Amino acid sequence: MTMRIHANDGISAAAKARLEEEGFTVTTDHVPQEQLAQYLNKEKVEVLLVRSATKARRDLIDACPGLKLIGRGGVGLDNIDVAHARSKNIPVVNTPASSSISVAELVIAHLFSLMRSLHKANRRMPAEGRAKFKELKKEYEKGFELRGKTLGIVGFGRIGQWTARYAMGCGMTVIYSDSHATADALDLTVGGVNVRVPVKMVPLDDLLKQSDAVSLHVPAQNDGRAVIGKRELGLMKPGAVIVNTARGGSVDEDALLDALKEGRVRAAALDVFVNEPEPREDLLAQPNLSLSPHIGAATAEAQGRVGDELVERIIAWRSATTVS
Ligand SMILES: NC(=O)c1ccc[n+]([C@@H]2O[C@H](COP(=O)([O-])OP(=O)(O)OC[C@H]3O[C@@H](n4cnc5c(N)ncnc54)[C@H](O)[C@@H]3O)[C@@H](O)[C@H]2O)c1
Repeated sequence: MTMRIHANDGISAAAKARLEEEGFTVTTDHVPQEQLAQYLNKEKVEVLLVRSATKARRDLIDACPGLKLIGRGGVGLDNIDVAHARSKNIPVVNTPASSSISVAELVIAHLFSLMRSLHKANRRMPAEGRAKFKELKKEYEKGFELRGKTLGIVGFGRIGQWTARYAMGCGMTVIYSDSHATADALDLTVGGVNVRVPVKMVPLDDLLKQSDAVSLHVPAQNDGRAVIGKRELGLMKPGAVIVNTARGGSVDEDALLDALKEGRVRAAALDVFVNEPEPREDLLAQPNLSLSPHIGAATAEAQGRVGDELVERIIAWRSATTVS
């Protein structure tokens, strides 16, 4: 009998085809979380693949004794009880580097939007663009350039460093803050020429005071706390903006709403939310927010790389388990 793989949050067509060529049977229809354990048992699934939506916590792992491997397409493993899985000899594999460029590009897209109020103009042009063209032009004509501004990056790992490269390409100065120094310079390739650009690590409070824009790239914290809360937002430069594509709650949502209402933070962008997939309504209604529904890694290129990397890991795991 062929080994069953179920990709509950989908997988690229190319990866599915490769796995099938390798002799696996692959299903990709999404099964709701509450029915997943029953489905996995009934279908005798041995490999469960997820992205960020499906949770593979202790209850699911305990309810599915046939599971042999869990794969996560993406970076964070906060939707999987990794320690519990490993205690039951179920390895957990992920694809940490595949989506860094896509998340970095989304950050830059949000930054351009915030600088030129595109998020606001896009909301109003369809209904008011004809009747109030001049008024809208007056409201949104006071834009800013990214060139020459300082971007403060909190969490300078894979995504933070890619965001820095794109920001440098736009002529921004980059400073960063991290729990430990991760880089003193970054390699950039421009027109086939390699350039090594120094980067400076500064304490978080200094970063907040100096930056025109702040972008978060930290993992979910073990204690669940926000990395940027009321105190930190209070330290930001007047008129500065903040982007969170890390995890819902990495920026405290209550404190952010207050800071936006009081004008201490001019505007913000969020790709991630507390309580996904049902973010709070007052956030969604706040006009100074540029919003996207957790799509940082959702590009054809990133999902292609995620799929390729997962395939390699599944094949390597099968070889290792067959030999031993
Ligand atoms: N929006 C999306 O779709 C999307 C996609 C992929 C990843 N992410 C998020 O991006 C995060 C970062 O991914 P990555 O690949 O760059 O991870 P990474 O592990 O390469 O880098 C994270 C960095 O954060 C630092 N860090 C941890 N806690 C910190 C703190 N309290 N203060 C300062 N620095 C801290 C770490 O030292 C590390 O250098 C992921 O954990 C995930 O939550 C979001």
